[in-house]
Amino acid sequence: MVKDGKGGHVVFPPFVTQKELDAISERFVVRDDDVFVVAYPKSGTTWMEQIVHLLANGGDQGDKVLSEAVPWVEGAANKYGGLDSLLGNATGRRFFHSHLPYALMPGVTDTRARYVYVARNPKDNAVSFYYHSCSKLDYEGSWEEFFELFIRGQVGYGLVLDHVLDWWDGSRKNERILFVKYEDMKREPAEAVSRVASFIGVRCDDELLRTVVDKSSFASMASNELANLDWVPQKEGVPRHMRKGIVGDWREHFSDEQSRRFDALYSQKMRGTGLRFDFGDGLVLPAE
Ligand code: A3P
Repeated sequence: MVKDGKGGHVVFPPFVTQKELDAISERFVVRDDDVFVVAYPKSGTTWMEQIVHLLANGGDQGDKVLSEAVPWVEGAANKYGGLDSLLGNATGRRFFHSHLPYALMPGVTDTRARYVYVARNPKDNAVSFYYHSCSKLDYEGSWEEFFELFIRGQVGYGLVLDHVLDWWDGSRKNERILFVKYEDMKREPAEAVSRVASFIGVRCDDELLRTVVDKSSFASMASNELANLDWVPQKEGVPRHMRKGIVGDWREHFSDEQSRRFDALYSQKMRGTGLRFDFGDGLVLPAE
């Protein structure tokens, strides 16, 4: 558990402790031209990292793996030679990714930096998080057990709906936050890339747009060893990071009872927020 910045506590992954978060809040000096890709885990973080990275580099992948090109804020204590070295060594415009909740994000209320927040329908998010926990976090429980942890917010970064709604609220007050939905990126990738380009101030002609859409497609990323996260150690026999990349996979995993229970929590939290998600096959909730 770490302090959630709102007077309470939130579950974090074991490798991100209060010590790392305190260091971020004390020493992460955000620059006005910084760009942060932010998402609750398993919502499309890597996909959006690839998009901003390609946009910033004229469509070239370069020679670094994506997690070096767009480093991870709260992972910096244990990578990149530590936080100070990550920040000190950066040249040119800086791009980062993070899963931090709104209340813990450096610079969000007091700088001109830009934040691209990606949100995904939380049922697909749950399924993706389950496989991620099995493959990379040594989780050995069943899907049923994972569902109970997920619906109670006892997984890394807490309850998905709290994370998403805090950033949603933030985006409605703050024009430096772009709120993007995974399902919209799937449906209209070119539209999503264009919005991101203009938000971060990158001129994107038709050729660059085509290149970025192509190199950030699921198939391209899955076969790209600089973008598919295969460099991260994981358990054998469990799906890799680029797993399915579809909308609606939750239907293969949620029982009717799990679905009803999740829907009840979802409607209670989402009512009156103006935020809706596409759960696949034309199901958009909350219904108007
Ligand atoms: P699935 O497990 O449902 O396949 P994150 O990067 O936040 O960890 O999110 C990982 C999820 O995003 C995985 O979902 C992964 O397959 C999906 N994803 C990654 N790149 C994608 C892309 N280019 N298009 C669609 N989905 C993508």
